[in-house]
Amino acid sequence: MPSRDRGGPTGTKPRGAGGPRRPARDHARNAAFDLLRAVDERDAYANLLLPRMLRERGIRGRDAALATELAYGTLRGLGTYDAIIEMCSDRTPDPDVRDALRLGAHQLLRMRVPPHAAVGTTVDLVRLRVGQGAAKFVNAVLRKIGSRELEDWIPIVAPDAERDPVGHLAVAYGHPRWIVSAFRDALGGGGELADLLDADNARPLVTLVARPGRSSVAELAESGATPGRYSPYAAYLREGDPGQIEAVAETRAAVQDEASQLVALALTRVPLEGEDELWLDMCAGPGGKAGLLDAVASYGDLEGLDGERRTDDGPEAGGGVAFPGGARVLAADVQYHRARLVWQTTRNASVVTADGTEPAWRPGVFDRVMLDAPCTGLGALRRRPEARWRRDPASIAELGALQRRLLGTALDAVRPGGVVAYVTCSPHLAETRVVVGDVVGRRDDVEELDARDYLPEVDGLGDGPHAQFWPHRHGTDAMFLSLLRKRP
Ligand SMILES: C[S@@+](CC[C@H](N)C(=O)[O-])C[C@H]1O[C@@H](n2cnc3c(N)ncnc32)[C@H](O)[C@@H]1O
Repeated sequence: MPSRDRGGPTGTKPRGAGGPRRPARDHARNAAFDLLRAVDERDAYANLLLPRMLRERGIRGRDAALATELAYGTLRGLGTYDAIIEMCSDRTPDPDVRDALRLGAHQLLRMRVPPHAAVGTTVDLVRLRVGQGAAKFVNAVLRKIGSRELEDWIPIVAPDAERDPVGHLAVAYGHPRWIVSAFRDALGGGGELADLLDADNARPLVTLVARPGRSSVAELAESGATPGRYSPYAAYLREGDPGQIEAVAETRAAVQDEASQLVALALTRVPLEGEDELWLDMCAGPGGKAGLLDAVASYGDLEGLDGERRTDDGPEAGGGVAFPGGARVLAADVQYHRARLVWQTTRNASVVTADGTEPAWRPGVFDRVMLDAPCTGLGALRRRPEARWRRDPASIAELGALQRRLLGTALDAVRPGGVVAYVTCSPHLAETRVVVGDVVGRRDDVEELDARDYLPEVDGLGDGPHAQFWPHRHGTDAMFLSLLRKRP
């Protein structure tokens, strides 16, 4: 926190003689404010823009961490803060003033910034960036907001928890109402809903993958990472820049959520009769799963399923086996620049720009197919703090049509006896079970396997046959997996 010579609690009064003190620039707060404006004005992606902004402005270390917490935290809590701001304002603030109020509210209600500093620095920012009149207004509103703790505001601004539990949780945990409803449906009830929404508001751990044959968890541990909970290739990086780790810079390792690793591994663990040489990753960009699949295809699942991880029933009864290596991956993406990213991160895979709905490959030639379908991304709200406010229910229907077409062509691409993984980074039923049910229901050449059999190291994946990861249960994104075998 920059130390300031501040006479009053708002920091507006000069201590010495002369006119009003000229506020100093607070680089972290200015960056956070600029990010909020960019998200609001031009639909910027926070996780892409902020790192660039910090780099260009030379903001590092604690200031960079502060700017990130201010920006991401404010974006996540937006729904809650807006309800409180409305209650404390006698007029609708202009968009730039509203963003400053949100920033101040986040510091007052969720960060451990002392109230006088939260108010003072926000007022300074508004005086510099908007004007004196707006600064006075912001001072008055923030003082009202700071008069109560967050838990005391919730019962005042949120719908009654008994009468409208979804509406209450939506305001209390800053999620759009339709997303809270969708999560409740996917969880099969409201029991864990608050825990899930809370987990969505927490900063996710940076998880790395040590691509087998190219790096190892032991190598990542030398850079301070600790072994993951489930995936034999995962390591958690609690601090530091992953880009500075040699193995990551050389694409032998990468940043990858643990559930993303596990759904890719599950696909490779399904035992197949006959050949197992050619795999397809149909929607591969930017290449996270393709990078792991390419390494396992080439070198094998080196850490494999050890005695503890292997299901008691063994492979004959549906349990998984460790892939020994010796396969090739074809990775496709409809967007050239995303296919390029796949090419940069993989070593042995062939990469093409191709539309999966109009296949550039012959049907029935692949032994395994990964379809990581384009989706709403509602399972990764922790990572994209503004995403929850961007999506709307209409996008579900649009994506649903594409997901069905892609799953149809994925099933056509696999040979008899081969297996398709249908994956989404969304738990929304209309993108997961409903899509699988519709497509499989119209065909007689496909059976759904129990995906949980191929993830024996993970509990709490649901009632099957698909597997659903959850941030509050597993500390991962809410990734969905269905494994479909083409009948021999
Ligand atoms: C969820 S992302 C895939 C993430 C990727 N598997 C990974 O792990 O990094 C979905 C991808 O599907 C691609 N896509 C969308 N429509 C497609 C289509 N018709 N054919 C092929 N790829 C498509 C998008 O460009 C996007 O890169």
